[in-house]
Amino acid sequence: MQLTNLLKGDSQAGRAIWYMRQAGRYLPEYRAVRAEMPDFISFCLNPEKACEVTLQPIDRFDLDAAIIFSDILTIPWLFERNLRFEPGKGPLLDAMDHPLDINAQLITGLEQKLAPVAEAVRLTRKKLAGDKALIGFAGAPWTLATYMAEGGSSRDFARAKSWLWSARAESMALFSLLEEAVIRLLVLQARAGADVLMVFDSWAGAVPDALREEFVINPATRILDGLRQQGVEQPVICFPKGLGEGVLGFAEQVPCQGLGIDQHTNLAWAAENLPENLVLQGNMDPLAVAAGGPVMRAELDRILAAMAGRPHIFNLGHGFVPHTPVENVAELTRLVRERG
Ligand code: CP3
Repeated sequence: MQLTNLLKGDSQAGRAIWYMRQAGRYLPEYRAVRAEMPDFISFCLNPEKACEVTLQPIDRFDLDAAIIFSDILTIPWLFERNLRFEPGKGPLLDAMDHPLDINAQLITGLEQKLAPVAEAVRLTRKKLAGDKALIGFAGAPWTLATYMAEGGSSRDFARAKSWLWSARAESMALFSLLEEAVIRLLVLQARAGADVLMVFDSWAGAVPDALREEFVINPATRILDGLRQQGVEQPVICFPKGLGEGVLGFAEQVPCQGLGIDQHTNLAWAAENLPENLVLQGNMDPLAVAAGGPVMRAELDRILAAMAGRPHIFNLGHGFVPHTPVENVAELTRLVRERG
């Protein structure tokens, strides 16, 4: 298993390849299944359909890993934040008035309400070839808190950020609740057969430097510690997107095995400055894949040159955009394979 071996420190394992949002709207076969589903959240909680779309990009591109089809917003859904997806609007939730405006008791139902995610992992692990890794995942507390505070996607994260500054103790209480939920969701997926776990902190870059340790680094460390305490041995990839030079401090403190690098970070610099035993993942700009042709090939050259001599999980710097031509993904995958 290429990805798992790489993350476990096997220097002979070679490069692994998979893509963020590899199962998604750029694939016609995904759109066909999506069109049959009444809403996005019931799609995520339908094990057969989730398994089917998880396998689509593996069947098409023969990637080294499948990521279970689900969403980080299953946790806000568990907390009954009235999650819904409206076409063209992204996710919508009921915004929170303050960090403690949440029914913490609902966490007791996590294993039961999110059992369909575990079932999807079980089904997929059974159908997936033995040499392919299955990735389970969750959102990090800060990224979850942004959606819950703002009631959806946000440009400036104004409400969530002002909580960190002005309602510090209450914010920490919310974060510990979310940390517990994240640990329990990851344990659920690990026990169901996920080979690798990933924690997405998509908006980590919006946390001011002075607050990064408290609200990005320490929660990630506690999640890693919590997983190990529960006996989870699977390797973990963290993706604290947008940290720039802050990835150095993150990598120094968080005991993860893999680190996702976004497309705004110079990969050669990252390769030179991050610990050698940390496996780097990334970082092609999803829009370079959408552009394709010489643009995409030049970016590929740059990335492979930056990672020469280091274990590498080839991936994007963020997820595919829906207008990505499928043939570009096929070409990119073939080129990465050819170049070893
Ligand atoms: O291949 C995969 O990556 C499949 C699993 C997956 C999805 N979401 C499915 C999805 C994963 C790993 C995620 C993570 C996720 N979800 C993140 C972290 C990674 C990132 O992109 O930053 C975040 C922030 C979310 C929240 C979310 N879910 C948003 C903001 C949206 C709407 C925007 C969009 O891209 O459509 C979603 C919906 C969503 N999650 C879709 C998919 C395939 C598209 C919805 C659809 O089919 O209508």
